[in-house]
Amino acid sequence: MKENNLLKHASQVFVLPLEDIRIHSEVLMVIKPKKMDHIEYTMNRFGQHLPVLGNLVDGTFYITDGVVRYELAKKLGFKTLKCLHINIQNEDVITARMTSNQRTQMSYSEMANCAEQYLGMIGKSQGKKRNMLGFGDFENNNNYGIVGMDRFQLVSYLMNLSIKASSLRKLMAVKWYEEENLDNKLGLMEGLDNGDFKVDKAYKLLQDKLKKQKYADDRKLSTIEGQNAHVWYKLYNKSSLVMDEIENDSVALFIDSHPYMDQRDYRNQGENPHGKEKTAKEYVDNFLMFCEEKKRKLKPGGYMVTILGESYSEGLCRNIIHRVVVGLEDNGWESIDSNVWVKSNQKYTAHPHRFINSWEAIIVVRKPGGEPYFEEQVKVESSISEFKLGRTSLGTAYVKSSETCKTNVFSTSVFNNKELKSVDKDFQHDAPCPTSIYKDFIKAYSRPNDLIVDGFAGTGTVSIGLTLGRPVVAYEIDPISVEFCQKRFDECLQEKEQAKIGLSIAA
Ligand SMILES: C[S@@+](CC[C@H](N)C(=O)[O-])C[C@H]1O[C@@H](n2cnc3c(N)ncnc32)[C@H](O)[C@@H]1O
Repeated sequence: MKENNLLKHASQVFVLPLEDIRIHSEVLMVIKPKKMDHIEYTMNRFGQHLPVLGNLVDGTFYITDGVVRYELAKKLGFKTLKCLHINIQNEDVITARMTSNQRTQMSYSEMANCAEQYLGMIGKSQGKKRNMLGFGDFENNNNYGIVGMDRFQLVSYLMNLSIKASSLRKLMAVKWYEEENLDNKLGLMEGLDNGDFKVDKAYKLLQDKLKKQKYADDRKLSTIEGQNAHVWYKLYNKSSLVMDEIENDSVALFIDSHPYMDQRDYRNQGENPHGKEKTAKEYVDNFLMFCEEKKRKLKPGGYMVTILGESYSEGLCRNIIHRVVVGLEDNGWESIDSNVWVKSNQKYTAHPHRFINSWEAIIVVRKPGGEPYFEEQVKVESSISEFKLGRTSLGTAYVKSSETCKTNVFSTSVFNNKELKSVDKDFQHDAPCPTSIYKDFIKAYSRPNDLIVDGFAGTGTVSIGLTLGRPVVAYEIDPISVEFCQKRFDECLQEKEQAKIGLSIAA
């Protein structure tokens, strides 16, 4: 082949004084200014590595390839240059330059592999690398670990990389993470090589993944903590309007549903029962009074979750939910959300001028103060068991989590009393709440070992709190319901103990 012939006379390297070196006339016609700083850096530090190429004719060397090195040698005050005589014909000079300069663009994987060699990190453990390269404090742009920024810079220069030292450090972090988590890698190196994103984005995706992973791990840990927690309950057969039995500022979460206005005839409600007020205003005032007592008992930053249905009379909506929400805010609660609970098997009721009402509100408010102790978003486990890269509709890459955000619309069937028959076949209650709703909100707004309270216990749905590792206090005015709650709570504690024994045997 012609190209091989061009260099077939390649023979000897001469070390020649600069004054005996010129640029070949063919090259002089085509050279353009070039980026020199990386070569300057390495020449200054290590001297000349590669010889310049050209022809030695009568003691003068004519450079055909290596003009930048020659210019830099003059600038840096070198006395001599290594020159390789390739004995090339004038007409072949330009072709030879193109051939010897032939390069393909380095893929990110190649770049990372080479950089690993240069950084001297091959075979080092992840911990050692983290230490040496300052990965423990990535956000700090001055922290390049024991290796130092200089070394990263040097590698970038040596390899003439298109990325800076800070990006190289990020590239290395991505590479090593993927290598060390083969069964749980995101495909970031592949994405880089395919040109799907640049290094900074790949690093950001990795950080997102690690953050999401931490949330998922915390949640799993919390479940285990809940399974192992030592729990107890206290049940009071009295009104929750005054809860002197509970210390002020000690409750993490109130979760309940007051009797709705004018909807049910509960047993044993005493005089002036809550729910039977004459006007909506009276009902809401009472409702808010109960909440003031709950606020006293809550820790600063503690939550109140209350499920509330709308009331209608003479064909008109009483706007109970809206009044309560506004009243709570006026009373100094911080509003978190009004979630919607859709009852999928709503019974037919008269509905003059309107559609059949099929939803209730799950109001969440927070006592001001304290630290909000949760992740910013309430999430649940998703069907995806591992992390993956996804694309938004605009094509931007993001990390698909093993957890997913849950919407604030909950859909369940109305609770069926039959489910309570296993505890007591004769017990009847008019308005039990679905356990799944209690479960979601207890998990979202409390942690294992946090005290949770239900001021209107009814059938004792709050017993799921015991299963989840939260001690429970409950108030209920109807003694028959209290008796039932006690049985349900005791069963729950027994089951929990059994589960614990099961877990310890399995361990
Ligand atoms: C809507 S039900 C609660 C249902 C309960 N969340 C469940 O899942 O079974 C309201 C309950 O509050 C009780 N109650 C009414 N007034 C009360 C009061 N002042 N203090 C405590 N309980 C009360 C009623 O007897 C009734 O059982």
